[in-house]
Amino acid sequence: MSRDSLLRVERVTKAFDGLVALSEVSLEVRPGQIKGLIGPNGAGKTTLFNLIACCLAPSAGDIVFCGRSLVGLPPHRAAELGIARTFQNVQVFPGMTVLEHVLVGLHRQARAGLAACALQTVRLRRTERRLREEAEALLDRLDLLPWAEVPVETLPFGLLRRVELARALAVRPKLLLLDEPGSGLNPTEKQAMSQLVRGLRDEGITVFLVEHDMTMVMGLADEVAVLDHGSLLCEGPPQQVQRDPRVVAAYLGEGDDA
Ligand SMILES: Nc1ncnc2c1ncn2[C@@H]1O[C@H](COP(=O)(O)OP(=O)(O)OP(=O)(O)O)[C@@H](O)[C@H]1O
Ligand SMILES: [Mg+2]
Repeated sequence: MSRDSLLRVERVTKAFDGLVALSEVSLEVRPGQIKGLIGPNGAGKTTLFNLIACCLAPSAGDIVFCGRSLVGLPPHRAAELGIARTFQNVQVFPGMTVLEHVLVGLHRQARAGLAACALQTVRLRRTERRLREEAEALLDRLDLLPWAEVPVETLPFGLLRRVELARALAVRPKLLLLDEPGSGLNPTEKQAMSQLVRGLRDEGITVFLVEHDMTMVMGLADEVAVLDHGSLLCEGPPQQVQRDPRVVAAYLGEGDDA
């Protein structure tokens, strides 16, 4: 494995009771890249994201982020270290507005500052104002500003995917894990999402992306890894992976012309 990786997954195995969801998977994500992760249903993609985000612990192996092991850390530590994620099935908080979703993330960043000036109301107010401006700038960036004060449960699904992304970005991540960001979106929304992801990469955020839409993932990713039945099948540039007979057999499974 190269020295310049941001994330290294080293011989990771994850077993749930009798079921081995991941078996000795090794891969790396380099800084500044968009890395795709594909594979048939049940291949272990979401499980790998859960391990990287410290929502699950590996049964064996190591996960190294910015040179330190993540194994044994709680999810909030992974977030503090710079790992943010969105979920395959969008997870938002009903009753909270779009703006509040982003403020939650920003507050986490500013917590130490808030505690330090708890009794100094002028500074506190200034911090609040700054956070609000920052949240509004982020919403504007994602074309969500018109819905800032709207409770999330009233929004259509396409916008919820963006709210989730806004919340993830609010923690100013180094690594963004996107679990099927195109799922449930129409073609226009998918294109907009792809543009957004490219823009984030251009700003220096590294993206690790699970996606079933081949056009989307092959168009976005600099490099693609393929999981099948919990094992890493192959890895490489999108064009190469697409043509790999093992991928055609395991994932596309539609015969030689797939
Ligand atoms: N918490 C869990 N407890 C038990 N089994 C689990 C758990 N999470 C995942 N699994 C199992 O692990 C395997 C991999 O699931 P995972 O959700 O990682 O697949 P995936 O590649 O994300 O699939 P999909 O494309 O359908 O989202 C599946 O057999 C799944 O049933
Ligand atoms: Mg999944």
